[in-house]
Amino acid sequence: MKIFLDTANLESIRKFNDMGLLDGITTNPSLMSKEGGNPKDAMEEITKIIKGDVSLEVVSTEYSGMMEEGKRLRQYGENVVVKVPMTPDGLKACKSLSSEGIPVNVTLIFSANQALLAAKSGAKYVSPFIGRLDDVGQDGMQLIQEIKEIFSNYDFGTQILVASVRHPLHVVDAAKIGADVVTLPPGVLDKMMLHPLTKIGLENFLADWDKLKSGNPDIKI
Ligand code: E4P
Repeated sequence: MKIFLDTANLESIRKFNDMGLLDGITTNPSLMSKEGGNPKDAMEEITKIIKGDVSLEVVSTEYSGMMEEGKRLRQYGENVVVKVPMTPDGLKACKSLSSEGIPVNVTLIFSANQALLAAKSGAKYVSPFIGRLDDVGQDGMQLIQEIKEIFSNYDFGTQILVASVRHPLHVVDAAKIGADVVTLPPGVLDKMMLHPLTKIGLENFLADWDKLKSGNPDIKI
């Protein structure tokens, strides 16, 4: 399963990229707004730092605007994936951009039928938002299971990009289902690295090493 980071924060992107954890990045207008400044600078920088796919989202809601913006976004790099909303105009833009060789991520997917239609329109990625479904009392992971089952019956070539991830257990469940990608807020990736027994174990190792060193101060690894 590929791991994308769901942020426009350059510091976080560099941090996790230096650990070799990142296969790509997803952004959206809210994430861009959170960082402030000129989003163009961030978009340009992200596409340079990350070798894998970088999803940059259009803000137009009608077809021709999406096409214009999609083509402009693509100029930031060959790794740019144009993110369009799951609307009739979004699907039309998905079809046109994909036919022109520009990969598309269809976002704001909340049902299996929406994922099916986005795949039919030629999307490289569908982004089901599982956390936001959980928030309204629907089982987000159940949707991932359904899309996985449907996609495995056919040969769309569309990847399931699990979005709106809220906690590490979402990641484990998505991996068990066999989702292609999860996109994670930096905080979730931080939490995935931690376990209390790792912390305690390391403290004990170092305490024992100090004991050994107290009798032999010149010892070095
Ligand atoms: C996905 O591409 C979206 O940017 C993101 O996962 C939305 O997550 P949220 O529901 O936490 O805003």
